[in-house]
Amino acid sequence: MTQQSSLFSDDFSLEDPSMAQEARLVLKKVFGYQSFRGLQGEIVTHAARGGDSLVLMPTGGGKSLCFQIPGLIREGLTIVISPLISLMQDQVQTLQENGLRACAYNSSLGLKEKRQVEKDLLAGQVDFLYLAPERLMTQACQDLLEEIDINGGKGGGLGLFAIDEAHCVSKWGHDFRPEYRRLNYLAKRYPNVPRMALTATADKFTRADIIRELKLEKARVFMGSFDRPNLTYHLTKRIRQGSEQILNFLKDHEGECGIIYCLSRRKVEETATFLKIKGYPALPYHAGLDNATRRDHQEQFLQSENMIIVATIAFGMGIDKPNVRFVAHMDLPKNIENYYQETGRAGRDGLPAVVQLFYGARDIVVLKMMMRKNNRGTGRFFFESENLESMYSFASSTACRRQTILQGFDEDFRGPCGNCDNCFSLAQEEGFSAREWAMKILVLYYRAKHLQSPQDLCDLARGLVTLKVREKKWFELENFGFLMDTPEKGVLYGIRQLMSHGFLKMDWNKGGLLQLTPLALDFLKEEKDLYFRDNPKRLTQKVKPTTAEKAATKKKKAAKKATTKKATTKKATKKIAKKTTNKAKPAPTKLKADAGGLFEHLKELRRKESKKRRLPAFKIFHDQTLKEMAENLPESNEELLDLYGVGEAKLKKYGKVFLKGIADYQMNL
Ligand SMILES: Nc1ncnc2c1ncn2[C@@H]1O[C@H](COP(=O)(O)OP(=O)(O)OP(=O)(O)O)[C@@H](O)[C@H]1O
Ligand SMILES: [Mg+2]
Ligand SMILES: [Zn+2]
Repeated sequence: MTQQSSLFSDDFSLEDPSMAQEARLVLKKVFGYQSFRGLQGEIVTHAARGGDSLVLMPTGGGKSLCFQIPGLIREGLTIVISPLISLMQDQVQTLQENGLRACAYNSSLGLKEKRQVEKDLLAGQVDFLYLAPERLMTQACQDLLEEIDINGGKGGGLGLFAIDEAHCVSKWGHDFRPEYRRLNYLAKRYPNVPRMALTATADKFTRADIIRELKLEKARVFMGSFDRPNLTYHLTKRIRQGSEQILNFLKDHEGECGIIYCLSRRKVEETATFLKIKGYPALPYHAGLDNATRRDHQEQFLQSENMIIVATIAFGMGIDKPNVRFVAHMDLPKNIENYYQETGRAGRDGLPAVVQLFYGARDIVVLKMMMRKNNRGTGRFFFESENLESMYSFASSTACRRQTILQGFDEDFRGPCGNCDNCFSLAQEEGFSAREWAMKILVLYYRAKHLQSPQDLCDLARGLVTLKVREKKWFELENFGFLMDTPEKGVLYGIRQLMSHGFLKMDWNKGGLLQLTPLALDFLKEEKDLYFRDNPKRLTQKVKPTTAEKAATKKKKAAKKATTKKATTKKATKKIAKKTTNKAKPAPTKLKADAGGLFEHLKELRRKESKKRRLPAFKIFHDQTLKEMAENLPESNEELLDLYGVGEAKLKKYGKVFLKGIADYQMNL
């Protein structure tokens, strides 16, 4: 059974009111949050009552609380399986900051520390134990678990298994870790201990793999919406290396934290150096750097409030830095799923963040070469290269970005979202009017009554008489060959654009076949416009513009930019305001003018504490908490407790300092 998300749902209290109340109490007292997000409430109560679950929520959606709260409600130890030491340390630190008894058991511990952890575990002194799957599979660790389970210690044995980043179990996913597959041992050995698998990977193959490999057939599947309404999507064609474009982009993001992704280590180094020369606080991160440097750069980035990290995709999984205000890609990601995961690292605090991709057609060549090198069989190559083509079409498409992403995750989101470049711009109406073109192709597809790959459909439209065409008598179809005069590349471009708009979809369950979607049927029925950026007919002829033509275009563009930039944005905004059905979340309220100074003052206070305690600033309080302090001017512990992210442990640690800070500031006004 799959449960879809209902935002801020409160339905879960109906099932078991007392459990729901307990869950809410823990949420407020320990974590300082007022309400559950999306399906969190249902998930927490389900697990607290001993049910198995599979939790699918976007990056930054709030999966950790889903196992942390039932972990606290249930008797006994909660074991969290996590793939990376850095991830474990990060979460352990967050839990400890909230006053909880959490520890990691991994190679970073010395022998003495290990013995201490073991002792604490057996004495029931630990609420959360973080482990890598490899560690769990060692005999020593299994013996330890047995002992906890049998003797129980004072803590009531084993309470819950949480398998975080569960997509690592799947070969379809991006971080396959064979050891994750051995976790099915938990189902066999501890059938009465509830298990929860969590991932931000939305595609259904990975989902099916997780269920099968982890023996979660009976688990309840909770699937939240994958929309990240606070992210603004921009995808732009790269000009040369994109250096000028990234500089322009950064001008709008001075003093903000961000991640810039590059495909190769070399480009990471070059970009970081280039930005440093231009005066930006940028640091490189890639697998070619030694461990100590990598760790140091990651640490610096986590601590900072204005640093840019330039990285390969080796950087990022599970980085819970809330105030990353932008993610920029200098090259095309391998597929939309990766793009989504990488961009998802921006705006985890729910405040507006911008994601910007610069892409070029050359990226496809380079990436395909890399895929061939990895050589994991032709089927795999076909799958990967189709996904890459979809990524490219998505980048160059005029469709609402959010719609393409969410439709790709089987979520029926209809644009315009009002918060992506295509929804902002009117450019689509200046492109190729493709309604008739699309209708003909879709009808042709429909009449052929057989599933086809994009290539097959392209051949039909171009009137190629293949063996299959003869056999099926497709040449008799109404629109057969209607694109005879369009080059193959152009037809494929158009078909892939239709895929980006969500009209056609690859069904990988059937080995990669095209399918018509409900969106296409709506399109055929309605009188909706459709625009492509380019005219398919003119796609392959690589006509090099003459120098005179180039100069003319440049001049035209410059003039247009100057006159229409403001007008377009205004017009577009107006238009969107009228058209938008799925509005993005409202921008967070700006601070009142007089609260701004106090906010800065509190930030300074937090900086001092962070230095003193050697903790990243956001682990003390999020920006949101400081903003609420500046707005509400709390004077007592009770008033402080009412604010976002202030639980009892943090109140005890920091309450005095911050209350004093607020009072002092007001005195000096
Ligand atoms: N109910 C809530 N109210 C307020 N903030 C919340 C709530 N739930 C989670 N958060 C905050 O949202 C942020 C992201 O949560 P979390 O780290 O659990 O994300 P995640 O889903 O595990 O993402 P990832 O896939 O990247 O690991 C955290 O800072 C967390 O404290
Ligand atoms: Mg997480
Ligand atoms: Zn949009």
